[in-house]
Amino acid sequence: MHQKVTVVGAGNVGATAAQRLAEKELCDVVLIDIVEGVPQGKTLDLTEAAPIEKHDAKLTGTNGYDAAKDSDVVIITAGIPRKPGMSRDDLIKTNAGIMRSVVTEVSRQAPDSILIIVSNPLDAMCHVALEASGFPKNRVIGMAGVLDSARFRAFIAMELKVSVENTHAFVLGGHGDTMVPLPRYSTVAGIPITELISADRIQALVERTANGGAEIVSLLKTGSAYYAPASAAVEMTESILKDKKKILPCAALLQGEYGINDLFIGVPVKLGAGGIEEVIEIKLTAEEQKALDHSADAVKELVELLKTL
Ligand code: NAI
Ligand code: 2OP
Repeated sequence: MHQKVTVVGAGNVGATAAQRLAEKELCDVVLIDIVEGVPQGKTLDLTEAAPIEKHDAKLTGTNGYDAAKDSDVVIITAGIPRKPGMSRDDLIKTNAGIMRSVVTEVSRQAPDSILIIVSNPLDAMCHVALEASGFPKNRVIGMAGVLDSARFRAFIAMELKVSVENTHAFVLGGHGDTMVPLPRYSTVAGIPITELISADRIQALVERTANGGAEIVSLLKTGSAYYAPASAAVEMTESILKDKKKILPCAALLQGEYGINDLFIGVPVKLGAGGIEEVIEIKLTAEEQKALDHSADAVKELVELLKTL
């Protein structure tokens, strides 16, 4: 295949992303994990499915970074979930350490790659990746908004009993309960949902979106969502590999846009071969801007915490 994508972390999100990338025949895939045998086993299993799924993508599973050499895109899903008794600070500390070591290896092997960060806490991990890679800000992108918007779109489609393909939605802000779904910019066949759904039902869908991650955790009990997160990371990757220049909500380092400085926040961006090619500034009402500022404050708190670790 012409292009190569490395996925670090062969857990639920990483392995599912590897599967989707290969089955869409977008690129060759390198899957890396710290646990011996897991990336090798999962890529062999996916390779054995290839004749049935009808693709010729080459999948390589490994515990080292040599195979990541010259990757076009690197998706980072490595990390540990929060365990019982573990504080938020402990989780950030552990995942920041993992992110730093992974990004150091990756940026050595693939210095021109574009990084898509998935590991949580997402916005804080983007800061770690930016610093550890030394990459310019257009090549470090956080995945959250595409997932959160997809959840909102799914709920809108369920509410109106219409095709998900007719729906569009924007969710801005940090990836957490301060995220900012924007009903005014969310449409069905071009019609704002504010004209199709009552205000109290929209509020219910907004709340369900903000709690989307927790809703899945409470059902699965042993882990968090991975099908939709993997789809979201792959949509971003496809836009970059094919230089599609899709406008997608992603975590980007803002430097003045939306009045926010030096923070990764979810905003609409144009994703193409250059990574983030443009941050799209849409007009917000005073109330929406206040919600975005509140979300930025929550991200800032995590970034400040990172500095103390
Ligand atoms: P998982 O636990 O299934 O997989 C994580 C993998 O990372 C494991 O296979 C583990 O062995 C590996 N790993 C740990 N340390 C490593 C290291 N130093 N080098 C290489 N691999 C290492 O977790 P899952 O469900 O795949 O989630 C991955 C991450 O993505 C979590 O932090 C999760 O919270 C986050 N996430 C973020 C979303 C978003 O919207 N940004 C959505 C869903 C998950
Ligand atoms: C989610 O939103 C856990 O961040 C993850 O599902």
